[in-house]
Formats: sequence, C-alpha cells, structure tokens
Amino acid sequence: MSKVSEMTRESWIMSTFPEWGTWLNEEIENEEVKPGTVAMWWLGCTGMWFKTPGGCNLTIDLWCGNGKRTHGNGKMAVGHQMANMCGARAMQPNLRAVPFVIDPFAIKQVDAVLATHYHQDHMSAEYAAHVIQSKMTTVDDNGKEIPVPFIGPKKSVELWVKWGVPEERCITVRPGDTIKMKDVEIVVLDSFDRTCLVTTDSTGPDREELTGICPTDMDDKAVNYLIKTPGGNIYHSGDSHYSIYFAKHGKDYDVDVAFGSYGENPVGMADKMTSCDILRMAEALRCKVVIPIHYDVWTNFMADVNEIRVLYDMKKDRLDYKFHPFFWEVGGKYVYPTDKDKKAYHHRRGFEDCFEAPQNIPFRSCL
Ligand SMILES: [Fe+2]
Repeated sequence: MSKVSEMTRESWIMSTFPEWGTWLNEEIENEEVKPGTVAMWWLGCTGMWFKTPGGCNLTIDLWCGNGKRTHGNGKMAVGHQMANMCGARAMQPNLRAVPFVIDPFAIKQVDAVLATHYHQDHMSAEYAAHVIQSKMTTVDDNGKEIPVPFIGPKKSVELWVKWGVPEERCITVRPGDTIKMKDVEIVVLDSFDRTCLVTTDSTGPDREELTGICPTDMDDKAVNYLIKTPGGNIYHSGDSHYSIYFAKHGKDYDVDVAFGSYGENPVGMADKMTSCDILRMAEALRCKVVIPIHYDVWTNFMADVNEIRVLYDMKKDRLDYKFHPFFWEVGGKYVYPTDKDKKAYHHRRGFEDCFEAPQNIPFRSCL
C-alpha cells in the first residue's frame, strides 16, 4: 500500500489534531513552580491554567470547541444573545482563529475545574468527560481525598449536570463565596457580563421574551474570580464588560494581574472591552499588570493589542498609571512575579545550543 492510497480524511485529522498535540500538557506537567510565584498558561479565549508551588492546578474557562464551520442556512438562531442584543438575523461569521494548544483527554492532574459563565466558549464537555472518566481526585482543605470539583455559577453547574457531571461534584458559587484549595484561595466576585444578561435559556420560536424585564440574576449566570496564590492575586474577569464597579473590587482586594476580555466589536455589537476599557479596568482594579485575552479566538472580533499600547503610552504619564499591559500569545507561559516587568511574550525560539556540536557544512563562508 502506498502513502496516497492509505491516506484518509480521518487519518489526516488524527495526525494533525489537536494542533499542539500534548506539547503543552507536557510543559505544564514538567513545570516546577518556584516558591513565591504562580505559573499561568493561556489556553485561548479566556481559558487559563494556573499552577502553584504547592502543586495546585486550576483551570478557568478551559474550552475545546470552535465556531462556524459551514455557511449552513446563513441565519443566526432566533433568540441567540447577539440576536437579542442587536436584532440581527444573519449568521455571525465567528470562526475559531487559534489552534488547540491543549489536549483535554491527555490532562493527568487538575485540582478544580472552574467556569466564569455558561456560554459555549467557556466550558468544555470534552474536558468534563475526561475528568469524570479518569476518576481524577484532589485533596480538600482538610487534606481529605475528594473527586475533582466543578466550580461555577448556577447556570454553569446546570450545564455540567446536563452533560452528566454528578451534581455532588459541582459547587455552585456566588459573589462573596471563597473556596480554599491547597495553597490557593478562590474568591468569587461580581461579573459585569451584560451579554450574559440577554442570554435566554432557549432559542427558537419559544425563546423567552426579555422586553421590559429587569435583569436581576447576573450572579446566577456569571462570576469573576480572584485567585489568591503564593505568587500574587490574579483577577479573571470572564467576559465582563467595563463596569465602574471594578473600582470597588480594586479597593476590596489587592490585584496583581488582571485579565480582561478585549475585542474589536463589530458595528451594532457591544460584547468585548475596547482598548480604552482595558486601561480603565486596570486603573480601577489598581492592578500591576493587565493582560488582554479573548481577542484571539473569533475571526470577527479579532483586535490589535498595539491599540492598547498606543493609548497606554498616550495616557500613562498624565494619569500616572501604576500598571502596564502585557501582551501574551495563546499557548504561552507567564510566571508572576518573575515576569512582571515583561511587556510582551514571544514563544521560545530554540537553537540555544547553537555551535555546541560539530556543524556539517561545506565552508564557514556559507554562514
Ligand atoms: Fe466569550
């Protein structure tokens, strides 16, 4: 049999997907987190992996799906939150723009699965299935072995349970709650994700009517998290829009690093924070480093982080900013406070051992 006669679409998919294979899984497993630091990896969208010196591995919003893959009927589902928000009916061309950098089925150990909210790009049935099927355990605050918990607001827990995650594995959280795990404390805070407020339970003709209904249940739908670690306090704002209440969170807590969902909103849409909002959020939270996320993932919301840099340079002296932005890459590692002065990330470039082994070239003049 020749290569071309054996090759199938399935064999191609299996040999190329997920794009990064287990590269990042291995990197995370092998990372030795130094005392007084916290290591983080960006998994794409708002997906984040945290690893502490005490061996606590947490994920927030790990998601393994994609967006549009066909033009279909060209229509958006009636009652989709974006259709609710702006009255558009044409399909949103949101194709996934980043590779899959982690293999959820190759994850060997995690201590808790967290979600900020239940939108499809923030939770993963694949990952949940693997955590359940592999019978992964952790230890609680008293050192007792327990199954790995799933932590999120009410709506996220409902989705996990719908997928088959046992209810007793889920912890429903609301702003004000705190959970201790190994050397980490999770503080649950208010979300400002107004897109979540116009998300209904069902789509289609029987969708819920929202006109004239005052939204009251953000706390059931979405939360923000402050992850207190030996390396500092990390604020994950989920898909929060800008809110003046970031200033209250900034007064109530010491925030070292803040993640904000940034994006280039299409005309007629207000879903992601703009460059200006990201700076305002950082200033209000009184963080030391602000990191834009989420702008990577959807083709129709991709944004240029240099816009944040230009605005930052314009405003930092006059407004006496005490923070700076850090521009990351999906699949990259950021260690706090070790990397606190870095302004931008580049993947490892390799060839560190150049000229340490004999070369094999005709003449040195080739070089
Ligand atoms: Fe999102």
